[in-house]
Amino acid sequence: MNKFYIRTYGCQMNVADSELVAGILSDAGFQKADTIDEADIIIFNSCTVRQHAEDRVLGRITSEAKRKKQNPNMLIGLIGCVAQRRGDELLDEIKSLDLVVGTDQYRQLPEIISSCMKRKEHLFADVQNNIENYENIYPVRNKGVNAFVTIMRGCNNFCSYCIVPYVRGRERSRDQKEILREIEKAGNDGFKDVTLLGQNVNSYNDGEYTFPELLEKAAHIRSIERLRFVTSHPKDISDKVIEVMAAEPKLCEHLHLPMQSGSNNILKKMNRKYTSERYLGIIHKLRNEMPDIAITTDVMVGFPEETEEDFLQTYNLMKQIRFDYAFTFKYSPREGTAADSYAEQIPEKTRLERLQKLIELQEQITFEKYQEQIGRTVQVYVEHTSKKSDKELSGRTRDNKIAVFPGDRKFIGTFVDIEIIDASGWTLKGKQIHHTKL
Ligand code: 5AD
Ligand code: SF4
Repeated sequence: MNKFYIRTYGCQMNVADSELVAGILSDAGFQKADTIDEADIIIFNSCTVRQHAEDRVLGRITSEAKRKKQNPNMLIGLIGCVAQRRGDELLDEIKSLDLVVGTDQYRQLPEIISSCMKRKEHLFADVQNNIENYENIYPVRNKGVNAFVTIMRGCNNFCSYCIVPYVRGRERSRDQKEILREIEKAGNDGFKDVTLLGQNVNSYNDGEYTFPELLEKAAHIRSIERLRFVTSHPKDISDKVIEVMAAEPKLCEHLHLPMQSGSNNILKKMNRKYTSERYLGIIHKLRNEMPDIAITTDVMVGFPEETEEDFLQTYNLMKQIRFDYAFTFKYSPREGTAADSYAEQIPEKTRLERLQKLIELQEQITFEKYQEQIGRTVQVYVEHTSKKSDKELSGRTRDNKIAVFPGDRKFIGTFVDIEIIDASGWTLKGKQIHHTKL
């Protein structure tokens, strides 16, 4: 039997898509390999949000292609956003690549793989249809205790720097009933911490229900213990969503809310449709309703025409808000996006300098935020033994921080209360107080 292995790059959406593809291939009779060494079909699920991400995955394909010398029947495939963006030209460019399949064509993968095997030809499928929701496919989830459930796909926002609307097509929401069923099943299968996924979850609308309505229903599913969602767009996050978060015990005290910039000038040029004042207003509201909420963000520097003053505004807003964590990026031009044609691109050196300043600021804030946790008692959902020692367990707090503590592996997959006694880097260290539930 042919075994497949999927290597995933990029965001959680790609992780979820890889699980979906594993579901499609398993249904078609292919077997999932535990390691890349056992596989005769290697699939790369790619990210193109920044040029660096694209270069990384293409470089990796070339290096893994050496495996074909030992196994001439091996197939190498590329799926995901790079496949969608570049299409069949990649088959000419990278000779070791056998198939290229875009984001709306995964149902065709078994057929394409079989044709490649039989006829030794190179194939691609990258037609975007803007409707594929991958309904009725149950994903084969990676090992662990956290499940991602896709609730909507695509994006209509066209932030001027972003390639996503081009490679993932228009927004479409899955049917609420299907989503609720999938969450319930995930819980019954032992995934008690569920994250609802979409490029812009707040604009979820299946024609009948909106996002806060879905959230409320999902939070009442008995088979799960924790519920999260990602990613939210500040322009769409409503008071109702914040209300539901505050009221529903299963909704975790964490929100990822990309800020991108602190300058209204740049936000406008990014087509983000909110101001720094509005963003700050949402943060205040969240913290008023949920004093312990952890807030994380994405921030970008070096967007075209970003002045030193614009950058300072971003820096100062981050200093004022004090995120628990921030993913910081330097702007990467993406062909075909509006920002790519803006006249004044910022020199690489300036982009790097600004990025470095933000990283230093955020490292200090994150350090302080984690130190503030010392002495608190928090609930940890134990995921696995820690990397350092098998006598130590590692898991996630409700506010999405990693915590390690001494303990027996029998607690994996259970909820444990710990007292935080120390913090280093991005990890909390604790001691077990008691075991809450299995
Ligand atoms: N360059 C740099 N960062 C980008 N992001 C999206 N597009 C680009 C780009 N062209 C960042 C944004 C987004 C995150 C997922 O990636 O901050 O929120
Ligand atoms: Fe990209 Fe903006 Fe859509 Fe997010 S909301 S995926 S940044 S276009």
